[in-house]
Amino acid sequence: MCGIVGFIGKNAVSNAMEKLRLLQYRGYDSVGVGFVEDGEIRIEKAVGKVDELSVKSESVRAVAHTRWATHGKVCTRNAHPHASGENWAIVHNGIIENYSELATGKTVSDTDSEVIAQLLEKYGNGLGSVIACAQKLEGAFAVLALEKSGKIYAIKQKSPLFVSEKNGEVVFASDPVCFCGFSDTYYSFCDKECAVADENGVEFYSFSGERIAKTPQTLAVEYRASEKGDFDTFMHKEIYDIPLAQSRIEQTYLPAFVSEVVSDIRHADEVWFIGCGTAYHACLFAVCVFEKAGVRCRAFIASEFRYSDVVPTKNTLCVFVSQSGETADTLGALEKVAGVCKTVALTNVGYSALASAVNVCLPTLAGEERAVASTKAYACQIFVFDILASVLNNAEPVMQKLDKNGLDYIFEEAKRVVKSFDKNELFVLGRKADYVTALECALKVKEVSYVNANAYPTGELKHGFIALIEEGTEVLIFATDPILYKKSLHGARECKSRGAKITVVTTEPEMFEGVGNVVKVSSYLCSVAFAFAFALECAKKRNFDPDMPRNLAKSVTVE
Ligand code: F6R
Repeated sequence: MCGIVGFIGKNAVSNAMEKLRLLQYRGYDSVGVGFVEDGEIRIEKAVGKVDELSVKSESVRAVAHTRWATHGKVCTRNAHPHASGENWAIVHNGIIENYSELATGKTVSDTDSEVIAQLLEKYGNGLGSVIACAQKLEGAFAVLALEKSGKIYAIKQKSPLFVSEKNGEVVFASDPVCFCGFSDTYYSFCDKECAVADENGVEFYSFSGERIAKTPQTLAVEYRASEKGDFDTFMHKEIYDIPLAQSRIEQTYLPAFVSEVVSDIRHADEVWFIGCGTAYHACLFAVCVFEKAGVRCRAFIASEFRYSDVVPTKNTLCVFVSQSGETADTLGALEKVAGVCKTVALTNVGYSALASAVNVCLPTLAGEERAVASTKAYACQIFVFDILASVLNNAEPVMQKLDKNGLDYIFEEAKRVVKSFDKNELFVLGRKADYVTALECALKVKEVSYVNANAYPTGELKHGFIALIEEGTEVLIFATDPILYKKSLHGARECKSRGAKITVVTTEPEMFEGVGNVVKVSSYLCSVAFAFAFALECAKKRNFDPDMPRNLAKSVTVE
């Protein structure tokens, strides 16, 4: 993960730091900037978010980094940029797998990245040294190397890197979102490419030193950096973005638009849905709705799938779900099946590695998601699956749309429930698609409020975990499936008779009267929105920042 920025032009340090702020979703445990001043490289670093570092400089060259620690604890010494002499300062995103073999001497930091600075010092100056260094590195890496001369070099292998230039200014970044307000065009680096930049522009080379001509891409409108507006957090704002995103999906996902994928699903022996975390939950939801439509399907956690012994046939259809389209485990899972069967991606980032590596790419259309915890992207993923399943069924989509009034009500209810919730443990229960919501709710609660929330299928209670239910245990039950209302009620009663404090989120409130707190919702998607709102209110009550939870990053580009 980690975010890297390089800037050539006036006020390079403040401009680089400004852009780095947009990359904090990639990691935010420490920050650093390297720049050239009076012919010398200077490096400033701090532990914490970008705002922890305040540097004043007139420099016209800077490389900057926001870190998500992989090798070495969070401390200033391990923050980037790294140097190993006077000639180079490097920032790195990714993992150098062979760093211990490459080290040329004792390192100051505990990172895998410092070895890049060591190699560059060893090889000398200029493009030749950068290429020699790039050829030695193994693993995933996007590197920006600032040379004392003022040139900035870039190296890319498996970690994202982009560059844009305009009127003698150059910006390198891990995400094109940094080009908003700078230029409408940019270049994507492919694997095994490097570049050299100064005020005259950027030149691209292969790792074997051949010059490469590249075509610029246009910045997509949906990736213009979004702001919080009237909301205090991005997570809150993004939950309120769901209705608009749903309208975009409805207007785009017309029968003609989905005909190829629907035909692929119809003709596949089996459809496999593959993703991580919240995206995996969307895969579980897909299985619920596609099985109903008569499709044989399975959901896999990408990190498990890539090392599993399951083998697709050429008639299996693999659908990869990923908000970022950059998740290393999901890309690893794709590598396993690429060339064997047809692959589809459902992703929110049209320029991502996943989008370009599959046979068919479906857009999630959620718009930019900045909060680390995914909310609107998940809502859009399940909305898209619901539409696809309805086309397969020749029926109307089942899922209703959210609206602002409905969300206001859900937040009021979430606040009410959270007011009396003060435990560090929560059981979240549901069955079938409601179990998927329970999983998603538990994940969100853990992520943003650090409460140990765990989800179980309600029917599993008596097979073990009921042993944990005692006086005052907090239990949250999702029950929106009419066929299973009664079964959910049994589960609620079994917990209540052992002293648990029950909250039921249901479309059938009368049925649950008397078992505890009842939250009436008008649809399945409202119950999902309640799960998000509940997690957000828990974080707020505990004074945690839900947008940047500890130890997490939005884009998990390492295995
Ligand atoms: C949880 C969350 C993560 C991501 C997971 C996969 O709120 O956001 O669990 O869903 O890291 O990320 P993508 O969807 O980008 O592949």
